[in-house]
Amino acid sequence: MTTSRVLLDHLPQPIAVVTESGGVDYKNQAFDETFGSDAAQWLKEAARAVAGERGWLHGFFVEGDDLRTIDVEIEGRVYRVDRILRVTEGETPAVALSFEDVTREREAEQAKSDFTAQIVHDLRGPLSGIQGTLEFILSADTKLDTMYADLLQEAQRESERMMNLINEILDFSKIESGNFVVEQEPVRVAGVLKRAVRSLQSVAGRDEVFLLSAHGRDVPQIIGSVEKLTQAVINLISNSLKFTPQKGLVSVGAQIERKGDVAEAIVITVTDSGMGIKAEELQAVFEKYKQSGTKSIRGGSGTGLGLYIVKQVVEAHGGEVSVASVEGVGTSMVLRLPVRRAAA
Ligand SMILES: Nc1ncnc2c1ncn2[C@@H]1O[C@H](COP(=O)(O)OP(=O)(O)OP(=O)(O)O)[C@@H](O)[C@H]1O
Ligand SMILES: [Mg+2]
Repeated sequence: MTTSRVLLDHLPQPIAVVTESGGVDYKNQAFDETFGSDAAQWLKEAARAVAGERGWLHGFFVEGDDLRTIDVEIEGRVYRVDRILRVTEGETPAVALSFEDVTREREAEQAKSDFTAQIVHDLRGPLSGIQGTLEFILSADTKLDTMYADLLQEAQRESERMMNLINEILDFSKIESGNFVVEQEPVRVAGVLKRAVRSLQSVAGRDEVFLLSAHGRDVPQIIGSVEKLTQAVINLISNSLKFTPQKGLVSVGAQIERKGDVAEAIVITVTDSGMGIKAEELQAVFEKYKQSGTKSIRGGSGTGLGLYIVKQVVEAHGGEVSVASVEGVGTSMVLRLPVRRAAA
């Protein structure tokens, strides 16, 4: 037995060497102690799944894949599995994996984010109370002094912004904890665009930006979430409004992508004549917390979560997002949503 083997045997961290063909080449004492004497069983099964390109182990073998760490649940506990070595020479590629029990950390993290999500969620109640009150005052027949009416409208806009922020944080925490589920209901895309445009028409009016929407007839239905898709389009429009100067144009449209006679996908575009995004910042806009150097002309800094959430929503519908932009000319955001057949 080589010295290095002996060293590995005595490392406090569980370590195992797994081959691509599904064998467990080596496991150290810590591994046996942690996972029990017949512990190699699940590892063997997981390793076997590698050959079938299934299971979490597979990622560790993919050439050029930078996946080095993954959290796996093994018999009720969460382990952070690290690939510490990959050997591709020889007949069968093998990886050396170390296992760290992170159950405690994960539970603590979960408790913390559950708590935050709960608090943020609870802010919605009182805020909708405030919104209801403002709406009542503004819609009542009472003659308000113009100054008061303006102030109350400002309060209404700010509370709207706060509500959007709260919803954004809640969606984000659901995405992060893997609890983001998309409803499976029939969605009329034309209706989604209409609702989104309607809800921002007054903001556009105040900012003196033209907001139009156009789509052909017979936009087919898709399956998904009316609310989440509407929110996604609202997000795009409100970005466009933030970055488009007075007398600018924001247009929202939907086209149908066909293969022969069959509608394959619906392509929603939100295009503005705004400030645009620098080429080198273009791809990063869909990442969380990413905000480009471009300053919004209307203040209101945002969280940089909007487009990240839009991307998650669209991907949860089996679709994809893309962006084209020319600095100083404008930006076009494109959401491509596949039309799923009834059987799918
Ligand atoms: N239509 C647009 N024109 C110019 N820049 C844009 C446009 N849409 C997005 N961006 C850039 O991409 C960044 C990320 O947008 P995102 O919607 O994710 O965040 P945000 O609008 O800054 O904040 P949030 O949406 O969370 O309130 C923006 O900060 C802005 O720099
Ligand atoms: Mg935004």
